[in-house]
Amino acid sequence: MTPRKFTRRDFLKTAGIALGASALTCSGLGYLATLPPEFEMTNATFGEQSTMSKKILITYATKAGSTVEIAAVIGESLSKRGFAVDVKPVSENPALDGYQAVLMGSAIRMGSWLPEAVDFIRKNQSTLQQIPTSIFTVHMLNYRDDEASRTARQAYTAPVRELLPSVDEVFFRGKLNYKTLSFFDRMIAKAVANPNDPPGDFRDWDQIRDWAENLNL
Ligand SMILES: Cc1cc2nc3c(=O)[nH]c(=O)nc-3n(C[C@H](O)[C@H](O)[C@H](O)COP(=O)(O)O)c2cc1C
Repeated sequence: MTPRKFTRRDFLKTAGIALGASALTCSGLGYLATLPPEFEMTNATFGEQSTMSKKILITYATKAGSTVEIAAVIGESLSKRGFAVDVKPVSENPALDGYQAVLMGSAIRMGSWLPEAVDFIRKNQSTLQQIPTSIFTVHMLNYRDDEASRTARQAYTAPVRELLPSVDEVFFRGKLNYKTLSFFDRMIAKAVANPNDPPGDFRDWDQIRDWAENLNL
């Protein structure tokens, strides 16, 4: 199957989530600062919201937007399986009442899940231990299938697994575009980068859809 590129246009079409435009600012001294894209997230809903459908929450933490696009594709895939799916940013602190399963995703920054995502799990730990919960991690490095790579990426989610020991988890390669990062983020991203792994969009939409289609819910 040919991987399909998921454009922002597709995303707006399928998820109905408003993405704010990225902005460039230029000072009088001619210093050009590239600001990260600002994502204005509204709640997206997929599938029929009938009393018969199982309700699933997908909540995510992102910095540059690649994780929210993955969350939307997972939501779309699950709706095709008959689930009623809400996709919400973790920053909105979504309530868990009424959901029969929760999927949580976070981008990796400097070896860790974004703090707001870990905080959300900490706050909702007892509820999340009682309903089926899966996590997806979006990252650029340590994606290979060797022992060193596996160990390194599993370290990314060790604090999450401490809170939810039996959580189901998956790792997805993400997207890195230096041009859309702030000066400091670009410096950090370059500092942690592996010279063998250039920036780019490495999201594997077939892998992502496949995971959602086969998720045991
Ligand atoms: C400042 C910065 C630090 C990063 N640190 C890591 C890292 O330690 N390990 C890794 O695998 N990926 C790292 N990445 C790559 C991101 O996880 C990847 O670009 C991801 O797709 C970002 O998700 P987002 O677009 O939802 O924010 C880093 C990216 C940036 C910008």
